[in-house]
Amino acid sequence: MVVHFPSAGYPTTRMRRNRRDAWTRRLVAENKLSVDDLIWPIFVRAGKDLVEPVASMPGQFRHSPDRIVATVQQAYERGIPAVAIFPLVEPGLKDPKGSEAVNPDNALCDAVRRIKDACPDIGVICDAALDPFTSHGHDGVIENGYVQNDITVELLCQQSVVQARAGCDVIAPSDMMDGRIGAIRKALDAEGFDHVRILSYAAKYASAYFAPFRDAVGSAANLGTADKKTYQMDSANSDEALREVALDLAEGADMVMVKPGLPYLDIIRRVKDAFGAPTVAYNVSGEYSMLKAAAIQGWLDYDRAMMEALLSFKRAGADAILTYAAMEAAELLDR
Ligand code: PBG
Repeated sequence: MVVHFPSAGYPTTRMRRNRRDAWTRRLVAENKLSVDDLIWPIFVRAGKDLVEPVASMPGQFRHSPDRIVATVQQAYERGIPAVAIFPLVEPGLKDPKGSEAVNPDNALCDAVRRIKDACPDIGVICDAALDPFTSHGHDGVIENGYVQNDITVELLCQQSVVQARAGCDVIAPSDMMDGRIGAIRKALDAEGFDHVRILSYAAKYASAYFAPFRDAVGSAANLGTADKKTYQMDSANSDEALREVALDLAEGADMVMVKPGLPYLDIIRRVKDAFGAPTVAYNVSGEYSMLKAAAIQGWLDYDRAMMEALLSFKRAGADAILTYAAMEAAELLDR
């Protein structure tokens, strides 16, 4: 709580005094970004000896499972606490139910096993969501033209258990089906994975800012002109975000996420103030690529703009930040 005590006013009070020198600015800084706050999303795809650039996300790459290990190792050595692994699925393996999602030998599980084997002390986060695996690009099973909730939740439970068996430490349901947190918690516990954490994408909005990600995981073409407005939230709403978070916490979420990040800093603040739960911001692909594009044009200083954006999440109340800029930020923080 901020108390606004009466101030003497100008000229007795001069707000610029504390800004005069770097050392006072450091002393009075209210928020700080640290490497401990960062989660780095990384892309995986089937294959061997493969590191290919993601066209829509300059500086980000898709790795085959054998090559992702070295990249994760670098993140670990930089001090990044956790990575989030996202798969690009070959078109031939996609079907309407996203069956490849529950294949214990899919590229994602293969990558997770190798990562945990080589680098056991870094946290590994995997989405529970069907969209990289479905032929229609939606996060659930479609019947009668509608993404079916309860059938999808059953598949998400299976997917979560398969990923936990591969060694995943945190299941991050990003699908926005109702009731999935409680169901996944039960499914994990029943298989002895009571230590596996759930990071709920609790307030996830139907956003245009996911476009570069959908290119990276190859779901853009599958989804076509369809949108996800029957399950992801309407950008107009913020009270609804609090209800979503309340439900997910009641169902057993260990951490909650607000996504996207920068256009929803108000939501992060409200969620943090209302619940005081571990709150994570997702600085999504579109936010990353906008800065990259502007920097490539020479229109802004990428490092400064990026660090300013990441600090804004701390100011808004986020405890941690998923960001494609995690490695760049960690390097800058190290200097
Ligand atoms: C999958 C998923 C998406 C993102 C993370 N998990 C895309 C979507 O819901 O369409 C977006 C991440 C980003 O844009 O960086 N459900």
